[in-house]
Amino acid sequence: MFFLSTALVTLATLRAVYGTPMPRATCSNGKTVANAQCCQWFPVLEDILPNMFDNECGDDAHGALRLSFHDAIGFSPSGGGGGADGSIIVFQDQELQFPANAGLDDPIDTEVPFIKAHNVTPGDFIQFAAAVSLSLCPGAPNVGFVMGRPMPKAPAPAPDGLVPEPFDSVPKILARMKDAGGFTPTDVVALLASHSVAGADTVDPTIPGTPFDSTPSVFDTQVFIEVQLRGTQFPGPQPGQGEVMSAVAGEMRLQSDHLLARDTATNCAWQSFAGNLGGMQTAFASAFRRMSMIGHNPSSLIDCSEVIPDAPPLPANAGAHLPAGQNQGDIEQACATKAFPTFTAQPGPATTVPAIPQS
Ligand code: HEM
Repeated sequence: MFFLSTALVTLATLRAVYGTPMPRATCSNGKTVANAQCCQWFPVLEDILPNMFDNECGDDAHGALRLSFHDAIGFSPSGGGGGADGSIIVFQDQELQFPANAGLDDPIDTEVPFIKAHNVTPGDFIQFAAAVSLSLCPGAPNVGFVMGRPMPKAPAPAPDGLVPEPFDSVPKILARMKDAGGFTPTDVVALLASHSVAGADTVDPTIPGTPFDSTPSVFDTQVFIEVQLRGTQFPGPQPGQGEVMSAVAGEMRLQSDHLLARDTATNCAWQSFAGNLGGMQTAFASAFRRMSMIGHNPSSLIDCSEVIPDAPPLPANAGAHLPAGQNQGDIEQACATKAFPTFTAQPGPATTVPAIPQS
């Protein structure tokens, strides 16, 4: 008996040390995965790419990404909330009353029929859809996906206050993000790479789909460059709450992004991502993955990252640049220890950014 158990332990040790591969499950589409439970996500993927996202990094992809943040951040160790649990959908009657969640009725209405059709939990679906949305945005990293979030038990606690607002101060935003997910100031800046594929519908409701950078359908570093430029204009007739002047016609700048680019706590991290796609991708993917698990014990979740496709690379002509009409002198240097990297302006008349077509 002793010899048998020793032999078994030795075999297990050898497997662990030499990494003898565990058998993989084959899904009905012929793909193999480490855990058979991940197979259920392939039909969801094949459905939502064309039918929810129109296979593009457009309005629906942007909305799905924002929704993943607003669901996940609704958690505080002292104040409650379930984090990335789907409560923003299940308890939308309460959570959509919070002003910070304005406009999220759109992505919720889009997602609910797919959640029902595929019989998955809303918490899992929200994070899955966000990961898939990124796969449609050239230049985005693969953020992976874990499954196993149970149904939510309660809405994020009222009153509102867990979701950062664009008019919040930097210390307030950093404190909230640390409380919710242990995010460092650099993590927070990295997460804002999401504003590279984003725009606003409700900050100034007269101009829905106003993008935060000049390239809202690719995941590039332009938002880190363009927010550092001197602001000169508002895209709409009146600035919205939490909006400051942007440098480029047709572009909206959030006060929160503007201040994070300039505050001593975050300005060097902000600058470090300008023109540094690889660094931005790595930092964003790491912080995003942690965000998607807020409120859960990671060991209770199953890694199904293999289901998430890779995004196409950025097109060769999509290098970091200054928008036409700007020059290096328009950069408001904020980081005290290193100069902002130098970029060349695109040729031609000053850039005007068109609105993001609304779905
Ligand atoms: C930390 C502070 C943040 C603030 C203050 C903030 C604020 C905002 C605001 C005001 C909008 C415009 C909403 C509208 O009017 O339609 C917006 C859009 C967006 N945000 Fe954030 N955000 C933050 C962080 C994040 C994070 C961490 C993510 C994702 C990881 C994210 C993803 C997005 C996306 C994708 C959109 C565009 C939605 C669309 O175009 O439909 N944001 N954000």
